[in-house]
Amino acid sequence: MDFAEFVHTGPDTLAGRYLRRFWQPIACSHELSAGQALPVRILSEEFTLYRGAGGTAHLVGNRCAHRGTQLSAGWVEEDCIRCFYHGWKYDGAGRCVEQPAEGESFAAKVTIPSYPVREYIGLIFAYFGAGEAPPLPRYPLFEKPNISLDVAGLKRICNYFNNIDNSLDNVHVRFVHRRHRDTSDDHVVQGDPVISVEESDWGVRRYVKYPDGKDLTFFYGMPNINFINGQVVDPVIKRADVMVFKVPVDDENHIHFEVRAIALSGEAGSGWIAERRAQRREEEKDRADLVRAILAGKLRLSDIDPQRIDFVMLEDEIAQTGQGPIAVRGNEHLGRSDRGVFLLRKIWERELLNLAEGRPLKAWQYRPDMVPTYPEG
Ligand code: FES
Ligand SMILES: [Fe+2]
Repeated sequence: MDFAEFVHTGPDTLAGRYLRRFWQPIACSHELSAGQALPVRILSEEFTLYRGAGGTAHLVGNRCAHRGTQLSAGWVEEDCIRCFYHGWKYDGAGRCVEQPAEGESFAAKVTIPSYPVREYIGLIFAYFGAGEAPPLPRYPLFEKPNISLDVAGLKRICNYFNNIDNSLDNVHVRFVHRRHRDTSDDHVVQGDPVISVEESDWGVRRYVKYPDGKDLTFFYGMPNINFINGQVVDPVIKRADVMVFKVPVDDENHIHFEVRAIALSGEAGSGWIAERRAQRREEEKDRADLVRAILAGKLRLSDIDPQRIDFVMLEDEIAQTGQGPIAVRGNEHLGRSDRGVFLLRKIWERELLNLAEGRPLKAWQYRPDMVPTYPEG
């Protein structure tokens, strides 16, 4: 099977059908206030995401059934959304409930698509698969008391699989992130680690042994979740566990959703997070342009402020977008250090083949074996 099968995720593609069998984050909860509607593009399809006046988030089709204008331009009334053009009104289940200009209303005959939505760990998840949605996976490490969740959705300008491959890549850290302002991760930046990988109940478990004797274990969750234990954050927070969901927008864009469990609670936590959000909003405005300018040779990484929260992401983006909007895997030369990348692709290939041929798929299970491996404090 061609590796290109992984990268196309529209509704009629194999990888697109596979990803639609899992709950996918589509937005950050804090980005959608009550009474607000947003257009959302995920897996090469358009949707309308809105939050009813009572706080419940709903996801329906992007177009009004009347004459097809974009529903997100309309306004929210109670738990419904009313079309901007001629005022047809829809509930969260996609049922048309009002047609103001129709003397004899035929609203009961009109529906638009709607999708199950859940909010959890600061993200809005949707299910795009056929039939009953599976239970939403839970991640107890991110439900602990005395933590706060720093949640962000970073827009990226390459295929999601460029980023997925990078989840299993330890060697890049020594090069891509060599300028990282916090070098306390010295076990990461000095010398090449020895990597062993195995398939797990959740996806891929990876053991990494550094030349100085330190061992770390990393966990990847199928199909598109990376768990990073004890990522260095800043001098206040020090380290935090991070869950990353890499979700296709379309074949050449994706969103890198991060949920970071920080060891601050109450007002200390919400204050720290509010500051980060404000800074991230600013950074989001020019990050893609900076990446394009660097790849065009018009700017150097050393010209960019390393205090940006997204600096590490920016470094990753240069490497990953530099592979091309969709990496050409047929031209690669994988070596021993690419074991993780190789194994994950094998697993994807097996699952997609089984899906294509109607065979049972592996039921991935998150197991609570993801414990922080960094020293507490
Ligand atoms: S297009 Fe929506 S009410 Fe006419
Ligand atoms: Fe990286």
